[in-house]
Amino acid sequence: MNVNLLDLKPQNAALEPELHEAFLRVLRSGHFILGPEVDRFERALAEFTGAKHALGVSSGTDAILVALMALGIGPGDEVLCPSFTFFATAGCVARVGGTPVFVDSCPVCFNLDLRDAARRITPRTKAILPVHLFGQAAEMDGVLALARQHGLRVIEDAAQALGATYRGKQAGTLGDFGTISFFPTKNLGALGDAGALLTNDTVLFERAKILRMHGMEPKYYHQVVGGNFRLDALQAALLSVKLPHFDGYTAGRRRNAALYTERLARLPGVVAQATDGGCIEAGADEVNAGRLVLPVAHPYNGHIWNQYTLRVIGTGRRDALRAHLTARGVGSEIYYPLPLHEQACFAPLGHKAEDFPWAHRLAGEVISLPIYPEIPSEQIEQVCAVIGEFLQA
Ligand SMILES: Cc1ncc(COP(=O)(O)O)c(C=O)c1O
Repeated sequence: MNVNLLDLKPQNAALEPELHEAFLRVLRSGHFILGPEVDRFERALAEFTGAKHALGVSSGTDAILVALMALGIGPGDEVLCPSFTFFATAGCVARVGGTPVFVDSCPVCFNLDLRDAARRITPRTKAILPVHLFGQAAEMDGVLALARQHGLRVIEDAAQALGATYRGKQAGTLGDFGTISFFPTKNLGALGDAGALLTNDTVLFERAKILRMHGMEPKYYHQVVGGNFRLDALQAALLSVKLPHFDGYTAGRRRNAALYTERLARLPGVVAQATDGGCIEAGADEVNAGRLVLPVAHPYNGHIWNQYTLRVIGTGRRDALRAHLTARGVGSEIYYPLPLHEQACFAPLGHKAEDFPWAHRLAGEVISLPIYPEIPSEQIEQVCAVIGEFLQA
């Protein structure tokens, strides 16, 4: 039987009557952009995360863009962000005229390496943009301490981490802004593009709200140059149906992650790393050569497993595993095959591959397995069996 990397149909099918009702409500209201449906979803999202304010926007990318604009980041400003992340994180910095200053990643939790971040601070550094990659929060105490020490703003790219916690606090609510994506592959997926900003700062919230609508306040009077970053009423209505089920989705992902870890750890050649909070040192050894390393959830983090990402150590081994999975009908994905410091569009920054050794290496080692909440456990068993075959070959 084929195993899909992701299948959105069962989750939506289970809610079809409510989604249908929400669609008809919006259709019959004649109000399609912002308005009461968006207000209602924003209130529910603020309550869910504990943020003082939530602002619905057109995508997770636009959430980052609006956050940077609201913080006044522009030409001449440097923003620290990981190289090993989705493009939008750094792309938005470049779009506002700033310079993304890349930071290497920790091979254990895949998040920003704070010691490397500290080394790259200059008088032009204005902000730090950690990403809570794959659903696990970055080291926010360290991020906030660094920000305080150097007077930096903090934007948390929580696109993949709605509902994740860091030492009991919700990811996305610890910095000046948190940015969320509701792209359909995310843990709370819309039926199209959608995103949100979280903030506890009322002044920043008001600024972001004005930027969302071309910097307009009052109507047709423009205080600043913003854009069209509005959220559709339909997406907000559909997301309002799904949000009350979110904890159930997270429980499903956690169950699936635990099953993978339990089954895969039994296989020869698999390393289940300690969850003692160790970061770089734990992964920096070379004893893992030729092995498959399981992902780690630090004990102080509530991981929401947007992805279950393995490292396959050894030249060509990851691609060989992927080919084996594909041949056996198992879906997988490489998030991400080329770190941002090596992307053609950032060539003018003049980086070499080895400037960010872990980001470069991770791009060649990682592979993500199917983990969506509704995947039958027999399919996870099947994926593990296929990986077992690979390891024994
Ligand atoms: C880390 C990260 N940042 C930003 C985004 C952008 O979100 P969106 O696709 O909603 O624009 C995504 C998702 O695609 C992401 O994974």
